Amino acid sequence: MKNRICEALGIEKPVLAASMNWLSNAEWAAAVSNAGGLGNLGFNCGQNMETVDVAETVERFRQEIRKTRELTDKPFSVTYILPVEGNAASRAFSDPIFDMFCEEMVDVIYTNNMTPLANAGEIKRIRERGIKVLHRDLSPTKESLLHADGLDVDALIVTGFEAGGHMTAHRIGLFSMLQEVGALIKTPFAAGGGICTAAVARAARVMGAQGVYVGTRLLVTEENPASDITKQAIINAKAEELIEFRAQVGYLRTNKSPMSADCDKLARAGADARVIANAYAGAWRRGMLLGDLNYGFISVSDAINSITAVKTCKEVVDELAAAFV
Ligand SMILES: Cc1cc2nc3c(=O)[nH]c(=O)nc-3n(C[C@H](O)[C@H](O)[C@H](O)COP(=O)(O)O)c2cc1C
Repeated sequence: MKNRICEALGIEKPVLAASMNWLSNAEWAAAVSNAGGLGNLGFNCGQNMETVDVAETVERFRQEIRKTRELTDKPFSVTYILPVEGNAASRAFSDPIFDMFCEEMVDVIYTNNMTPLANAGEIKRIRERGIKVLHRDLSPTKESLLHADGLDVDALIVTGFEAGGHMTAHRIGLFSMLQEVGALIKTPFAAGGGICTAAVARAARVMGAQGVYVGTRLLVTEENPASDITKQAIINAKAEELIEFRAQVGYLRTNKSPMSADCDKLARAGADARVIANAYAGAWRRGMLLGDLNYGFISVSDAINSITAVKTCKEVVDELAAAFV
């Protein structure tokens, strides 16, 4: 398939797997890449126990990269949070990870930024090492996207409030964002947030996207390490029953659980974002990976009503890629 995002990233089909804490592991990334899309390794990939040790985080990530390479000879991306300019603490975490990525000669780094604008110097540093950059603003605006468009990135991701995981702080839907910027962005870009069917992928294409960036739909797959309980709960859940609350970054949309009800209560009472984040520390691992729906939570897109079955990664990639033929 000839398409700008495929050419930029060296892949066959313009379907990019989203970075998902605990869930974007080697088997899943390789399944997406082997299907012709771009797999991703996220934080805590391949693990089921937490660590706060930076050296151990780096070594665990390294082993997962090597494992992925045994499962596929196709490109995949690895997740990197851009350090905040002038912030030594964020460098202390990001530098060892970046050095390991260079040692392992990764193909593509998926970057995101905790600040309004992407760190231009850091993007340059990655590109100078000959590594491709796929960038996503966590809370995109026209200004932040055009700033990223002006940097030397290979591809961009534009996400909207429909997305699973931490949602944009600005609560702007994907198609509103695309109406504003779809025709202005020069870098090839993928649209993300609520992409579950070929129909919505086609709509994103009409709005200027050359590909799609997919989390929730691709986590309800045979190859994803999410608990079977969690996958079934997503299939059974109704979008109208999910709750949304202010989170560490932007917002979170989750199933109703004692854990998420507590977070919602804190958010409504005006608690600081860090206090709310402390309340849900560990909830991703418990809810998504271990299937504990009481003390964990399920974080998903608001398009889940269109997910009715567990599929293979290849089935999902093929279905969504058909929108770009
Ligand atoms: C369970 C879950 C965990 C996520 N964790 C991360 C993460 O660690 N880093 C990140 O950049 N995005 C994370 N995301 C957001 C995804 O990268 C992506 O933006 C989102 O899944 C796209 O929307 P969709 O779920 O509607 O396809 C996560 C999403 C989900 C559903």
